Amino acid sequence: MPQDISTVAFIGLGVMGHPMAGHLAGAGLDVRVYNRTTDKATAWLARHGGSHHATPAEAARDADLVVVCVGNDDDVRQVTTGPDGALQGMASGSLLVDHTTASAELAAELDAACRERRIGFLDAPVSGGQQGAETGALTIMCGGEPADFERAAPLLERYGRSVTLMGPAGSGQLTKMVNQICIGGLIQGLAEGLHFADKAGLDATRVVEAISQGAAGSWQMDNRHRTMLDDEYAHGFAVDWMRKDLGICLDQARRLGARLPVTALVDQFYADVQAMGGGRWDTSSLLRRLHDPDKA
Ligand SMILES: NC(=O)c1ccc[n+]([C@@H]2O[C@H](COP(=O)([O-])OP(=O)(O)OC[C@H]3O[C@@H](n4cnc5c(N)ncnc54)[C@H](OP(=O)(O)O)[C@@H]3O)[C@@H](O)[C@H]2O)c1
Repeated sequence: MPQDISTVAFIGLGVMGHPMAGHLAGAGLDVRVYNRTTDKATAWLARHGGSHHATPAEAARDADLVVVCVGNDDDVRQVTTGPDGALQGMASGSLLVDHTTASAELAAELDAACRERRIGFLDAPVSGGQQGAETGALTIMCGGEPADFERAAPLLERYGRSVTLMGPAGSGQLTKMVNQICIGGLIQGLAEGLHFADKAGLDATRVVEAISQGAAGSWQMDNRHRTMLDDEYAHGFAVDWMRKDLGICLDQARRLGARLPVTALVDQFYADVQAMGGGRWDTSSLLRRLHDPDKA
C-alpha cells in the first residue's frame, strides 16, 4: 500500500462505485464518500464505516486520493470542476482518478485543470461489470503520468485484476473505446448466430456446446448464450450505457477519421432496443430485437 495515501474520497456509489469503494475500505483506508442520493451513501456507510459528506468538495478535503465513478462527461464535470466539485477541496500533491466511461476530450480537460493546481490525474475507465467490481476482478485502462500511475496502482489493484497504464491522459478512455467497438459487433454476431440456429430448427444449446471452444467462442458466448436463449435481459450492462459509450466512440472516430461502419449500425440496433422499452436490458438483448422485428 502506498505510504502517502491513507485517506480516500470516493464520489459515486452506484452499481460500480459501491463495491469499488468497499474494497478500499476493506484495505483499511479512511474512506470519505459522496453520493448525490443520500440513501445510497447511508447504505454504504452501514456496511463499510467511513464518513459521508454533503458535497464532492467536502468529501475531497484532506483526501490524498479522490476517486470518481459517475455517469457521463457532464456528470464528471459537475462533481470535479463544478462549483462544489472535488477540485475545490483537493490539495496540491493529491491525486484524482476518474473511473467513469467518458470522452478523451474530458480527460484532457481534467488533466489541464489538475495540472494548474499541481494535482495528479488518471483517466481510468473499467470493464468487467458489476460482477468484476464486486469480486475485485476489473480490467482498468489508465491514461496519465507514470509517477501518478505508480502511486495509484496498488490501490486500484484492490478491485482491478488487470491495471495497465496505456499512455498519457486520455489513453485509458481511448482503450475503453476499442473495448466497446470490439464488443458491439461481436454481440450482434452472436445474436444473429443464435437467431439463425432457431430458424434452422437446431438445438441452440448444443450448437453453442459444439462451437464455443473453436474460433467462434467468446466471453459473450460463454456468459450470455444461456440467458439469451431464455430471453432474459434483466441483468448485466444496460443498453442505455452502451449507447452512451458507442456515441463517444463514434464522435472520437469522426475526429480521428477512423471508419466504424459496424459500430454505427449496431448503435442504431440498440436505438431500436431502447424504442422497445429495453434501455435497462443487458446488451445481449440484440437477439430479442431479431426475434421481434415488428417491435424494433
Ligand atoms: N454497470 C456496468 O456494468 C459498467 C461497466 C463498465 C463501466 N461502467 C461505467 O461506469 C460508470 C458508472 O456506472 P454504474 O453502473 O455504476 O452507474 P449507476 O449505477 O447509474 O451509478 C452512477 C453513479 O453516479 C452518480 N451520478 C450520476 N450523475 C451524477 C451527477 N450529475 N452528480 C452527482 N452524482 C451523479 C449517481 O448518483 P445517484 O445515486 O444520485 O443516481 C450514482 O452514484 C458509467 O460511466 C458506466 O458507463 C459501468
